[in-house]
Amino acid sequence: MNERAIQSIRALEILDSRGFPTIRVRVTLKDGSVGVASVPSGASTGANEATELRDEDAKRYQGKGVLTAVKNVNTEIAALLVGRDATEQPAIDAAMIELDGTDNKSRLGANAILGVSQAVARAAAQSCEVPLYLWLGGVGAVHVPVPMMNVLNGGKHADSSLDFQEFMIMPKGAPTFAEALRYGSETFQALKKILHGKGYATSVGDEGGFAPQLKGGNDEACELIVTAIEKAGYRPGKDIAIALDPAASSFFESGKYRLVRSGQGEKTSDEMIALFGQWIGRYPIVSIEDGLAEDDWVGFAQMTAAMGAKIQIVGDDNLVTNPRFIARGIREKTCNAALIKLNQIGTVSETVDAIHLCRKAGWGFVISHRSGETEDTFMADFAVAMGGGQIKTGSICRSERIAKYNRLLEIEAELGGAARFGA
Ligand code: PGA
Ligand code: ZN
Repeated sequence: MNERAIQSIRALEILDSRGFPTIRVRVTLKDGSVGVASVPSGASTGANEATELRDEDAKRYQGKGVLTAVKNVNTEIAALLVGRDATEQPAIDAAMIELDGTDNKSRLGANAILGVSQAVARAAAQSCEVPLYLWLGGVGAVHVPVPMMNVLNGGKHADSSLDFQEFMIMPKGAPTFAEALRYGSETFQALKKILHGKGYATSVGDEGGFAPQLKGGNDEACELIVTAIEKAGYRPGKDIAIALDPAASSFFESGKYRLVRSGQGEKTSDEMIALFGQWIGRYPIVSIEDGLAEDDWVGFAQMTAAMGAKIQIVGDDNLVTNPRFIARGIREKTCNAALIKLNQIGTVSETVDAIHLCRKAGWGFVISHRSGETEDTFMADFAVAMGGGQIKTGSICRSERIAKYNRLLEIEAELGGAARFGA
């Protein structure tokens, strides 16, 4: 009898950090090993993401229940996988994709499939008595990612005056992950004091960044961050840089970028690129994700040609962690890095494929959470398994964000002298 065969798979409807339903899956193996995984959920989603299956039953959770996805796991997927060897991750993922039978996992739900995929990986790691990062990444998994911490929230993540969704600090000059986290935390607290001193609110948005009504909009956000970095005793650009995710699809309407909240008016693609060009001269910005809308492939290519040698241009909504779109992005020189979200594509194996494509092309990659998260820390282990790179998992508050940072602290400590930090 194969001790690592899957004995049972059970799913449960739980709540995410916004209080909306999501799915948790528990996989048990014959030898008693257990893997549990919970799936996150986005708000500013790309049109081509794998389908997050919702019940659409208006009587429950405003239609956002996931009982159908739960049922799909407990019936069809369990029937498919019980008895299979949990260490055969690629074969298990491929079998679920085949069972689903659609291009975007819309029949069984990418949330159902990913929950199982991640829980299987966890159960296999436990059965082999190795930590998850080692199971997925092998003995070479010693690189701890550089965090991008989202300290000011706007766009679809907060009712602030910011059109741009994420203003992040990146402690790239820190010697270790633990020190990077300290740099970030101290800057976050300095920013809180500065905001308070100026009479701005210090309540936070979905990802734990402050969400004030800044009079000076997006520009003031960058200025305040630079001041906070200095106040905390760090050198802007050297110790701590700025990374942005405008999530431009969310304010792109009828062919124009509408910076309504900040009062900066309407902009064309060229004008947005010019604005970013000015900003990278003025602020220590090292990375811009979704500076343009997901269908603006031409604009993306122009932006990469204009500033890709100086900064990282990250594709999220346009690439959706899908090897097909990433391959097109590489061909058309659309970006020079990809955002990587497990639930955009829906299996662990396909996410690994997406990262391999990036690596082969010399692209950067950023492992990312979603704005609706859970206490699950799979992505922290996954980032180390994939060789580090960068990780985007929110601000320095809210436990669903901190859980990932705490797990990375644990991994770095466990690796001891073998741990490597930075690109
Ligand atoms: P989402 O936002 O999780 O709401 O999609 C994250 C991002 O745009 O990177
Ligand atoms: Zn994004």
